[in-house]
Amino acid sequence: MIRQLLKKLIHPFLKYGTQMYSLKPRPYSYNGIEVMVMPDVFPPQYTMSTKILLDFINHLDVKNKTVLELGCGSGIIALYAASKEAIVTASDINTIALKALKKAALKNTLVVDIIHSNLFTAITNISFDYVIINPPYYPKTPKNIKEQAWFCGESFEYFKDLFHQLSKRQDKHVFMILSEDCDINTIKQIALDYQIQLDVELEKTVIAEQNFIFRIKKLKPF
Ligand SMILES: C[S@@+](CC[C@H](N)C(=O)[O-])C[C@H]1O[C@@H](n2cnc3c(N)ncnc32)[C@H](O)[C@@H]1O
Repeated sequence: MIRQLLKKLIHPFLKYGTQMYSLKPRPYSYNGIEVMVMPDVFPPQYTMSTKILLDFINHLDVKNKTVLELGCGSGIIALYAASKEAIVTASDINTIALKALKKAALKNTLVVDIIHSNLFTAITNISFDYVIINPPYYPKTPKNIKEQAWFCGESFEYFKDLFHQLSKRQDKHVFMILSEDCDINTIKQIALDYQIQLDVELEKTVIAEQNFIFRIKKLKPF
């Protein structure tokens, strides 16, 4: 109750501050890896999700494993996995993000295969050891490329396509982060429509917001 009230009070200021701050390219770094976050790209510095995923990967043994960051945005997660000697692919629908990631990979002297793709459509690997997803989850139709980082479509179209495509793939470990801010029950139900179950792998509350990393589990083998 107090948590919700606190969030309601702080949110408008945070939103305004975030919008103002992200009008210019801004650096973001994690454990010695630095990216430049362009104005039309998802800003990892204002939400907890990217940092939680980075900390999560920190504890995974990804050395020599194939890792896909699906919807990579700034690509900090992809680059961090590459710094841990994973064989990394980073994909996004946002070409501005991919261009900046290409530069960041060079600057950090890390190798990442960068692919422009709507979900898995342009991805040729049939499976990865790890797929990491920080999805857009607010149910609204995105008006532009920047909004695609936040909005999943009025009827959760992003998740319908995602689970449909995942149900036909053979990836070993698929992890997706969601916050209590989104309609987790609806997203879970959509997953079930495609015979996919979301199991909580990690739960973390940061600044009054509960976040969950879900393991995406196929109920029916392909
Ligand atoms: C919440 S942001 C996460 C960015 C990054 N993974 C991170 O954790 O900082 C979601 C990302 O998914 C991308 N995206 C949205 N819809 C997509 C789609 N259909 N196919 C590929 N990427 C998509 C957005 O452009 C955005 O970069």
